[in-house]
Amino acid sequence: MLCLQDSGSTSIQAADSTAISGSITPTDKRYEQPPAGGAGSPCPHCVLTVSSPCPHRVLLVSSPGPHRVLLVSSLCPPCVLTVSSPCPHRVLTVSSLCPHRVLTVSSPCPHRVLTVSSLCPPCVLTVSSPCPHRPPVLRIGFLGLGLMGSGIVSNLLKMGHVVTVWNRTAEKCDLFIQEGARLGRTPAEVASTCDITFSCVSGPKAARDLVMGPSGVLQGIRPGRCYVEMSTVDPETITELSQVITSRGGRFLEAPVAGSQQLSNDGMLVILSAGDRTVYEDCSSCFQAMGKTSFFLGTPRTPVELHQRSRLRPVVGGAWRRAKLTRGRLWAACVSGEAGNAARMMLILNMVQGSFMATIAEGLTLAQATGQSQQTFLDILCQGQMASTFVDQKCQNILQGNFKPDYYLKHIQKDLRLAISMGDMANHPTPMAAAANEVYKRAKALDQSDNDMSAVYRAYIH
Ligand SMILES: NC(=O)c1ccc[n+]([C@@H]2O[C@H](COP(=O)([O-])OP(=O)(O)OC[C@H]3O[C@@H](n4cnc5c(N)ncnc54)[C@H](OP(=O)(O)O)[C@@H]3O)[C@@H](O)[C@H]2O)c1
Repeated sequence: MLCLQDSGSTSIQAADSTAISGSITPTDKRYEQPPAGGAGSPCPHCVLTVSSPCPHRVLLVSSPGPHRVLLVSSLCPPCVLTVSSPCPHRVLTVSSLCPHRVLTVSSPCPHRVLTVSSLCPPCVLTVSSPCPHRPPVLRIGFLGLGLMGSGIVSNLLKMGHVVTVWNRTAEKCDLFIQEGARLGRTPAEVASTCDITFSCVSGPKAARDLVMGPSGVLQGIRPGRCYVEMSTVDPETITELSQVITSRGGRFLEAPVAGSQQLSNDGMLVILSAGDRTVYEDCSSCFQAMGKTSFFLGTPRTPVELHQRSRLRPVVGGAWRRAKLTRGRLWAACVSGEAGNAARMMLILNMVQGSFMATIAEGLTLAQATGQSQQTFLDILCQGQMASTFVDQKCQNILQGNFKPDYYLKHIQKDLRLAISMGDMANHPTPMAAAANEVYKRAKALDQSDNDMSAVYRAYIH
């Protein structure tokens, strides 16, 4: 077994009790290794990616048998280890000539490449890939280099992707060009030259402008090319973007992210997606670079199911009428998970986060108003069931007067506004979010838009 701990020390125990030892750099969360060329490799063409959202970074590596197949799973009961591989068998084979099976496992580089070598001087460990078939190199486009886009693009580049960038304020591209990115002159040019174009901009208007504005994506998109909307927007915007992109033969996925600037830089975002399932699959190496996990929230339907559904369609007045799907539309509808589901889920999550943040600020200021120590309030809070990195970091920052943006206040207020509007349309009450929204609006009036969301605190003290 292989335990990653903060000290970096490890112990490795093969399932057959043969001793194995090694170490992994604890700061690396993902380790990639082409499968070794042992006869036991079920798939010679695949690259195995092991990623762990487990903050404890506890992994179990075991060798279950004489074939020396190395299996990786999580030792840590509350945490989930994701082993994702284009190989359906998800087996990493390490073949060792060393009878003692003494291994060193380390990840020395920022690209998170796993290297395995022998600790045992007389013995030779062989890790090799006979596979000449690397996954095809996709040309990736990225529009929007704000707090989120910057971290995402850095991680795409670190993981070896070929990335073309564009940003409205062109100077923001310079840093990435130095890191190896290419420069796109317009969104249209990026979409026309890249296989998959991602966008991560401030909100619904910017997302629409980027696609439908002058020199927008729509002018460059070609049949089969993918467009992935990562901005947090409302489901109606997603539906509209999906329609215009697919009307030009493009393929569409929405993929908003949960996280912060820090998590974006760390490649630890949570990606929610819906739309064309085939795009979701094509994005897997990108999503692995930018996030710790991804969800597909649309449910693609089978052709038979869709065909049956297509025959009866509701029309105004409650009547039903027959409709017919062409073969092309039928296929498009099959692969298309309900675009808009990810936006809905994202808004609900951000509504909870924004309301929670406002409540924490309210607690801190009430503590002060009633003569209680804010630090003690935080200490007690962080010992209880509500303890979390989020609470700890945001409160510490507030107490230090540090409102440097990790998640812009203006964006969380936008999310609250969109969530409230979604509740309105569903005729569902959202009084907590509505109250929180008012406090954020007050904070915006106090010129806090470009500070972190924790600056909502200032709305209570002014
Ligand atoms: N920050 C977070 O922690 C976080 C977390 C989850 C989700 N999100 C969501 O992710 C998205 C991006 O957030 P962010 O924090 O990266 O925002 P940001 O730092 O404010 O960046 C916004 C980006 O949008 C671009 N933009 C704005 N209006 C535009 C327009 N009309 N046309 C073209 N480009 C335009 C900006 O270009 P310029 O550089 O020229 O201004 C910039 O690249 C938002 O939808 C946000 O809600 C953010």
